[in-house]
Amino acid sequence: MTDAADALWELLRLMRASFAAGAYHGSAIAAEAARVVAELPDRPVVLAKPLVASAHPVAAEVPEAARLAGRAWDAALSPLAAVLPWRYGYAPRLDAPGLERRMAWAELVGPDAPIRSDRVGFGLTFIGRDTFYLPHRHPAVELYAVVAGSADWTLGEETTRRRPEDFVLHPANAVHAMRAGSEPILAIYSWTGDIVTATAFT
Ligand SMILES: [Fe+2]
Repeated sequence: MTDAADALWELLRLMRASFAAGAYHGSAIAAEAARVVAELPDRPVVLAKPLVASAHPVAAEVPEAARLAGRAWDAALSPLAAVLPWRYGYAPRLDAPGLERRMAWAELVGPDAPIRSDRVGFGLTFIGRDTFYLPHRHPAVELYAVVAGSADWTLGEETTRRRPEDFVLHPANAVHAMRAGSEPILAIYSWTGDIVTATAFT
C-alpha cells in the first residue's frame, strides 16, 4: 500500500461510516444506505488507478469545507483533496456560465474510479458558494449525505434547506437541483441500479 492508498482507505472508512448513519433515517433511505454500504470494500484494496494531482479548481476549496465538517473530516479529506479525481462531466451550458469550474465530483468507488466496482458509484460532490446545479435526472438511484455547508435542495416540486447529516434520496429519474448559497456544499453521494446511463438536464 502506498501512503495515498492508505489515506484513501481512511477517507473511505469515514464516508462509509457516515453513510451507515442512514440506517437511522426513514425506511427508504435506510434501505438504500445499507445497499450501498454492503457494496463497499471493508478492507484496504489495491487501487485500480493511481491518485494524481487534480487540475480542477474545486480541489483548492475542498479543505475549507472539510474543516467546517469537523476534525475527522479535516484529517481524512484535507490531505487528499488535491489528488482526488475531481471532474465535471457535462458540456458547458450558456444558461450556467462557469458551472464547470464551480462544481465537481470525485468518484472513489465505481466503474472508472480508483476502487473498481460495476455495481455502485460512491464519491464526493462539491458545489461552490452561490452556485446552482440545474435540474437534472438519471436512471440511477442516488443517495446523498450532506457533510458540510447547506443548499436549497429541490426534488420534484419540493425545495428544502439541506444541512450536514441530512440524507436525500433521489429515486430513479426523479428531477432534482441544488442551489448553494453563501457557503459551498460538500456531500457524499452514491449511485445504484443503472449506474452507466449519463445524467440528462431537463
Ligand atoms: Fe443526481
